[in-house]
Amino acid sequence: MYKKVGKIVLIVGALCLVFILAIGFIKDRKDTNEVTAQGNAVETEKDNKEQENDSKEEDNNGVKELRLSEENLLLKIGDKYSVEVEGLLADGSLIDLTDDSKLLSHSNNEEKISIEDGEIVVLDSAEADDEATITYVYENISATINVKVEAAEEPKKEEPKEEPKEEPKEESKEEPKEEPKEENNESDQNNNYNSNDKTVMIDEDGKQVVTNPKDIHVLVNKQRNLPSDYVPDDLIKPDIKFSFTHEDPKRYLREEAAHALERLVAQAKEEGIEIVGVSGYRSYKRQETIFNYNVNKRGYEAANKVSAKPGQSEHQTGLAIDVSCAGVNYKLQEKLGELKEGKWLAENAHKFGFIIRYQLGKEDITGYQYEPWHIRYLGEDLATDVYEKGLTYEEYFEQYMLNE
Ligand code: DAL
Ligand code: ZN
Repeated sequence: MYKKVGKIVLIVGALCLVFILAIGFIKDRKDTNEVTAQGNAVETEKDNKEQENDSKEEDNNGVKELRLSEENLLLKIGDKYSVEVEGLLADGSLIDLTDDSKLLSHSNNEEKISIEDGEIVVLDSAEADDEATITYVYENISATINVKVEAAEEPKKEEPKEEPKEEPKEESKEEPKEEPKEENNESDQNNNYNSNDKTVMIDEDGKQVVTNPKDIHVLVNKQRNLPSDYVPDDLIKPDIKFSFTHEDPKRYLREEAAHALERLVAQAKEEGIEIVGVSGYRSYKRQETIFNYNVNKRGYEAANKVSAKPGQSEHQTGLAIDVSCAGVNYKLQEKLGELKEGKWLAENAHKFGFIIRYQLGKEDITGYQYEPWHIRYLGEDLATDVYEKGLTYEEYFEQYMLNE
């Protein structure tokens, strides 16, 4: 009897054990499935995101960012302006999107500042100080530019001269402008005049005007103006990379300087340094637009330290160019001087005939803030001598060239 009861207890116990084990097994299977299912869900979400990103890039043709040729514009009533739009690709290169059919633009003040045939137009209904934000959209990327209307100026007795024919096509469609109102700063004008200096004469307005604008060694600064109608007659495009892709007069330099720059950029490349052109030749009129723009944006005092007045810019000689590099996003920033590209330029530019024209700590002599990007062609011998003597071109000119 006891034996029988013992057997039954054993059988029931064994069945219970099997049941417990079976429940445990089923539960484990369920948990594992849940983990796997969750894992799949995460993977799927990740895949979706990746696909979404991939398709976004496909939609954008790989364009990661829109770059506009201007951030702020100052226009007069009746002005039309065509902004250059470029797309930054993943490899750092830029493609021109200005005329791309996918590029859309709109103004938030259409009644006064509108877009017509891709150009920004300031309508007659606009008044001084009216503003608009123009948005450029390329697929799902956008960039904006601020436009402000500036007051019309009083008509001037003497019309500014027409752009001479030899000049490369100007991008700006602005009407010829008159002298900026703030132009006459007594302390900037006419000091240091030396009547023995045959490279300068006094014009009817009492301004010093250089007599040797074509000379590779011409000294142009706040005292020494270029004739307003001076345009170099041997401008060519150096075969180097620029920070923009469109055709523009700022690609040009005088022939000798252009070839020297090609050699400089090639040698830098050999040494693993990429230097790109940003802005070379500028006409008198273009400089006037830039200076006026800076005065309006920063005020006269600040503008006068960073931007030359028309006739006083080395860019009008076709012998100066602003350069930059990827490390400062191809912009003109003082930080360039601390980067390997800026240091390489400072140490090597003279070997190719260029000097860094506006040195740090020499602002009182040159009249401009430090510009590690602005290089001026003087020819190898002179550039090397100026470099080795550690002088600004103003100091060198006075000490070594004036009384020759
Ligand atoms: N930024 C230099 C001084 C120029 O405008 O020529
Ligand atoms: Zn410059």
